[in-house]
Amino acid sequence: MKICRTRAELRTLVRDWKRAGETVGLVPTMGYLHEGHLGLVRLARQKADRVITTIFVNPTQFGPNEDLGTYPRDEARDQALLEAEGVDAVFLPSVEEMYGAGGDTFVDVPGLAGILQGALRPGHFRGVATVVTKLFNIATPDFAVFGEKDYQQLTLIRQMVRDLDMPLEILAHPTVREADGLAMSSRNVRLTPEHRQEALALSRSLDRAEELAKTGPLLADLEAAIWAELATAPSADVKSVDIRDAETLAELSGPVIRPAVVLLAVRFGAVLLIDQRVVAQTTVQDA
Ligand code: PAF
Repeated sequence: MKICRTRAELRTLVRDWKRAGETVGLVPTMGYLHEGHLGLVRLARQKADRVITTIFVNPTQFGPNEDLGTYPRDEARDQALLEAEGVDAVFLPSVEEMYGAGGDTFVDVPGLAGILQGALRPGHFRGVATVVTKLFNIATPDFAVFGEKDYQQLTLIRQMVRDLDMPLEILAHPTVREADGLAMSSRNVRLTPEHRQEALALSRSLDRAEELAKTGPLLADLEAAIWAELATAPSADVKSVDIRDAETLAELSGPVIRPAVVLLAVRFGAVLLIDQRVVAQTTVQDA
């Protein structure tokens, strides 16, 4: 497995692979890898001749009061995990290598970046769209894999790729969960044991929503059921519960009859957890 710390090194490697007619899959990450990331890597491994994983804690997607400084990092462990998955190259640039001095261009998808998580974290999705564009331009992959766990990020990247005619395919991988249902996240290690236990309210509320949605309930009833389940976790500071159109993230009203995505953002102490599930009606209503 090659370790590339500069854009030039990665470009040379990819150029040689492409000359040999090989396909390239990209898995962008911020490191501190867990099974969730490895699921993305395995999907890329199945589909491409060559797999690149990027590890870069991107400062432009963190707000001034967010956890950039304390974001967990473990480069040696990450490399060992990726080597075991048969990854061909890891791109580990420094902040200087990625942004240098004097950069003045950003990529923005304002409609999708300004709602939901984006309204809670101003500038976050502009940072994501910009760094992902840079990674696509440096690695020039045939496809890139993103997790459904970050559903708004996935939707926004798909829109950006469509709007800017970026020549690659975006693949989605389902959320990977712990045995007890908690969605895997690098932030989980920072939960206290009590908060870790209470955090199961997120997946429980999504199970409840999935069950209820099968009958085409009113939006307000679906929301109420989710809030009631989250209320069973006394430390949960519920930042948002949103039920949106699963494809466009547009607002819904009345009965939920189109596939919808339930998006949760809940804070436990200093740790913000997000989770999501696509839910759909399975019964046909009488005319
Ligand atoms: O999902 C993430 O880990 C990050 O937002 C990404 C896509 C690697 C961009 O920094």
